[in-house]
Amino acid sequence: MQILIGRLSVLRLSPVSGVSCCLPGESRFKAGATLIDHVIATTFHRFMGNGRTSPAIFSCVGGESEGTKEYVVKLRGGLELGARGLALELYASMLGSYFGMSCPRPAVVLIEEDLATLILGQLDRDSQKARVIQRSIGWNFGSQFLVNLTAWPIDKSVTGPLQQAAMRVFAFDALIQNPDRQFANPNLGSRGDDLFIYDHESAFSFLLDILPSPTPWKLGTEGYLERHVFARALKQVAFPSDFLKRLGNLTAEMTRFFTEHIPTEWGSGDLAKIDSHLALMSSHAAEFAEEVTGRLA
Ligand SMILES: Nc1ncnc2c1ncn2[C@@H]1O[C@H](COP(=O)(O)OP(=O)(O)O)[C@@H](O)[C@H]1O
Ligand SMILES: [Mg+2]
Repeated sequence: MQILIGRLSVLRLSPVSGVSCCLPGESRFKAGATLIDHVIATTFHRFMGNGRTSPAIFSCVGGESEGTKEYVVKLRGGLELGARGLALELYASMLGSYFGMSCPRPAVVLIEEDLATLILGQLDRDSQKARVIQRSIGWNFGSQFLVNLTAWPIDKSVTGPLQQAAMRVFAFDALIQNPDRQFANPNLGSRGDDLFIYDHESAFSFLLDILPSPTPWKLGTEGYLERHVFARALKQVAFPSDFLKRLGNLTAEMTRFFTEHIPTEWGSGDLAKIDSHLALMSSHAAEFAEEVTGRLA
């Protein structure tokens, strides 16, 4: 299905800007990268076949580059946590880039009422999807569509250069307490020697704990790590030294920078808690690295 919005709604939008990710005291996350394009969805293509939360592919205009680009859009109306989940997606994406992970380029995607109405006209027999679209008018989280991405097969062995990439993924998920990258649902894809990660709306799971651990760098009781897609594949792989260095150098200024790039409409209740969690992890970076390798021994 492809639904095109008839007129150029981009003309009605205030100037669309990409935000440079040149951080105070830090080099860019990735050469030439910018953070957080704000784009407008112009064409609906289809819902992803395999998403739990009904993400969909849209063509969008705006942002840093000219012309249209395709995005996989996590729709606010499809997420259990609603806009809160969008904030977690975006925070994890920025943080992942900071740690040198390959994350599809994020964007904040506007779905206007006119486009939603056109989509709804085509969805009259699918009331669940219609509800999702209806509740997603406004800003949503998008990640630029990656072509030629191979979904990670269940229990694939990890060899050669992929080992370091996989170790980073395991460490990152332990850092952000992400239970949603498991054998049966890896939420990652490979392209050459690179591993791309996505789907972080369930990350930062300490936010849902009534009594979060005061020592989150200790991983002994983190049950989800046993089911992590790389839990069995990474024996004797060294902890990446640059990850450790970046964790140690993760300043409050940096986490504030991430927080400032989350749209205020998505709510800010969780962000201070995430910043505090990361500050704690940063001040115990070496112990955290030991805990990670200990879990894989
Ligand atoms: N940027 C992207 N490029 C290509 N495919 C993607 C991208 N983001 C997600 N996908 C695909 O869409 C599926 C659903 O996205 P995901 O974020 O996992 O949603 P859900 O929370 O519904 O599981 C993924 O399993 C993956 O196959
Ligand atoms: Mg998923």
